[in-house]
Amino acid sequence: MNFKYIISLLAITVLLFNCSSGDDDPSDPDPTPDPNPTAVTYNGHIKSIITNNCTSCHGSTPTNGAPMSLTTYSQVKSAVETRGLITRINSTSNPMPPSPNSPLSNADKNLIQQWKDGGFLEN
Ligand code: HEC
Repeated sequence: MNFKYIISLLAITVLLFNCSSGDDDPSDPDPTPDPNPTAVTYNGHIKSIITNNCTSCHGSTPTNGAPMSLTTYSQVKSAVETRGLITRINSTSNPMPPSPNSPLSNADKNLIQQWKDGGFLEN
């Protein structure tokens, strides 16, 4: 995904350069879209999702039968890699958080998936 993004940035840059040569009208509006969509990071996005939905059981001392803590970057990353965290948040038969808690919103599920796909950025 990052690679595609870089390619499209390059393409946009080339297009802009070509269009601007020979066009010296200074009143032209700048059509460049914001080139910096924010990357998904643990501290920026994931930590608060986990704190709001998971650490009531998966706290630094796990409670209610939860088998592990989800309070640090490395614990959450490791749970995605080795404990099927993404499978469990998307599961209807065996969901996390367990019922009667509400499941994560689709937006939150997507953020966790994007965080994994982006290589688990911490900051
Ligand atoms: C109400 C308490 C509770 C909440 C809230 C909760 N969990 Fe759990 N979690 C458990 C219990 C109990 C288990 C062990 C039984 C099981 O696997 O279903 C567990 C197991 C898991 C496992 C599997 C661990 C393994 O090694 O098999 C994952 C992954 C997980 N939880 C992630 C989460 C995530 C992510 C959240 C928040 C979105 C969350 N849990 C919220 C109680 C909870």
